[in-house]
Amino acid sequence: MRLSSLLAFSLFFLLNIFRIFASTCWDLVDPRRPKEFIKADCPTESGNPPNLKRDNDDMFVVTFTCTVNDQTLCNKVKTAFTTAGKLITASIAFKTPVTVNATFTSFCVLYNECSTPTTTLITLGGAAPARTMEILDSDGVTRLFPQSLVKQMNLDNHPAYSSFDILALFNSDTNYWFDGDGPIHADQSDFLFLIVHELMHGLGFTTGYEDYLNNPAVALTPYIAVTQSSNSSGIIFTGFVEMIFDKFMVILSTGQRISNITKQLNTFAGGPGALFANSSQFISQFEASSQYNLAKQVMTYATTPKAIGLLPVNSSDISQAIILETSLVPYVGGSSVSHVDYQTYSNTSDFLMRYLQDRGKTLGQSIILSGNYSGGPIGPKLRSFLSWSGYTVLNQSVPFSIIGDSSYYLNISSDANNIIPSLGYTCTLATLFFFWFMASQ
Ligand SMILES: *[C@@H]1O[C@H](CO)[C@@H](O)[C@H](O)[C@H]1NC(C)=O
Ligand SMILES: *[C@@H]1O[C@H](CO)[C@@H](O)[C@H](O)[C@H]1NC(C)=O
Ligand SMILES: *[C@@H]1O[C@H](CO)[C@@H](O)[C@H](O)[C@H]1NC(C)=O
Ligand SMILES: *[C@@H]1O[C@H](CO)[C@@H](O)[C@H](O)[C@H]1NC(C)=O
Ligand SMILES: *[C@@H]1O[C@H](CO)[C@@H](O)[C@H](O)[C@H]1NC(C)=O
Ligand SMILES: *[C@@H]1O[C@H](CO)[C@@H](O)[C@H](O)[C@H]1NC(C)=O
Ligand SMILES: *[C@@H]1O[C@H](CO)[C@@H](O)[C@H](O)[C@H]1NC(C)=O
Ligand SMILES: *[C@@H]1O[C@H](CO)[C@@H](O)[C@H](O)[C@H]1NC(C)=O
Ligand SMILES: *[C@@H]1O[C@H](CO)[C@@H](O)[C@H](O)[C@H]1NC(C)=O
Ligand SMILES: [Zn+2]
Repeated sequence: MRLSSLLAFSLFFLLNIFRIFASTCWDLVDPRRPKEFIKADCPTESGNPPNLKRDNDDMFVVTFTCTVNDQTLCNKVKTAFTTAGKLITASIAFKTPVTVNATFTSFCVLYNECSTPTTTLITLGGAAPARTMEILDSDGVTRLFPQSLVKQMNLDNHPAYSSFDILALFNSDTNYWFDGDGPIHADQSDFLFLIVHELMHGLGFTTGYEDYLNNPAVALTPYIAVTQSSNSSGIIFTGFVEMIFDKFMVILSTGQRISNITKQLNTFAGGPGALFANSSQFISQFEASSQYNLAKQVMTYATTPKAIGLLPVNSSDISQAIILETSLVPYVGGSSVSHVDYQTYSNTSDFLMRYLQDRGKTLGQSIILSGNYSGGPIGPKLRSFLSWSGYTVLNQSVPFSIIGDSSYYLNISSDANNIIPSLGYTCTLATLFFFWFMASQ
């Protein structure tokens, strides 16, 4: 009773405070480059998205493309998507289905990224929100929300939705393990683990802070929004825009909110609305500004162990923060900050969002070895984050039977802890010379 009235209240609250500030949307160009967007046309619309299906056990609608000439493998991948959809649906009460464009393909054939016998880290795949929308948040700050989250808010008016919420791309050149394959081998990666991890990024577990100007990175800022000036050849800076994730980031040593830093960054050149002749002028002026020192300071935090965490907005209890991955030196775009601290959360029920996946260990085994959390792979800290962001998180146990054949996940091999980490790539990030795209809009 109390719970349902609280839910009703939060819904009422959401409907009233989330007003659409402006229909500004950013579309992902390529899921391999999750921080590169182009501005999309998304006029305000009313009404709910088309009701594609309502499978209350699996609220993910996956459009799947398999380019591998092995139907058995393609079917296993497809089945794993259904399992991942069920696992997440058992943890989040989706009001509207989440649409995913998923592709399973050879990165060697398609991108000439071929592994050799000595490769220890291989790109497994990635997923990111297909469209993020600028929404005026409850604290008066405009942030980028993944479309999947905006859809859950049942807004009367919302920016036009694109057909997919999440774009996902997975590399077929790896030795994956699937349910039904028998015991997992030490060099195999559980495909289900990979998808659940990547879909969490797609639902919003990703920072907007990145170095959008330099490679290698030297200074981090939120997404740099610019538009083409309508009456001159220049570009108008419309602000450093945080992702919803960034609202919860705090500097653990001082308790300072990252949003506070964003606010100071947004005083650059007099703030949003400043006109620049071209992107080079923007870059040189920003790099010479006092705000640039703040961006460099954020870079220092992002490469200092346990320097940044996630805390709900009404809390200042640092001990409760979710510690983010800031131990990677040098900084690795996509791996740093957008994951939980590897050291802290290995062997805990929040193992899922570490930047490395354990080879030789299935998702089911990881759950059991880390304490057999009743909620399954989506751990308690990750659930908190999802709930702060605006998803309705369910507090119910997730039946192990969803994961698959128990005779395999319960048979944990003796070398399960002798693992070779492998890297998923949302988890690594290509360079971002996105300015050209934006200036040419
Ligand atoms: C799905 O994504 C793939 C790869 O990004 C793309 O080639 C394809 O056109 C997309 N499919 C649809 C229906 O948009
Ligand atoms: C462009 O037009 C706006 C009004 O539409 C005006 O306020 C602004 O000063 C103009 N900028 C330039 C550079 O002419
Ligand atoms: C924001 O940061 C400034 C400068 O570091 C500081 O003076 C101010 O107290 C901070 N405000 C909050 C609310 O943390
Ligand atoms: C950018 O604008 C500045 C100032 O107007 C000009 O000096 C420079 O040549 C321009 N650069 C490019 C690449 O157009
Ligand atoms: C913060 O707000 C949430 C609801 O949004 C509530 O459940 C929680 O108890 C609050 N925490 C504090 C410390 O006030
Ligand atoms: C996790 O636990 C295993 C076995 O107890 C241990 O070998 C491993 O070092 C632990 N990992 C971390 C990162 O603490
Ligand atoms: C883990 O929990 C499930 C029920 O959630 C139970 O069936 C299973 O026996 C437990 N496994 C271990 C190793 O404790
Ligand atoms: C979730 O349910 C368990 C028991 O089923 C209970 O112990 C726990 O307090 C609940 N958590 C929340 C946040 O309601
Ligand atoms: C458990 O797996 C090992 C190989 O990892 C295998 O040799 C053994 O027969 C399996 N045991 C059962 C009961 O399936
Ligand atoms: Zn990741």
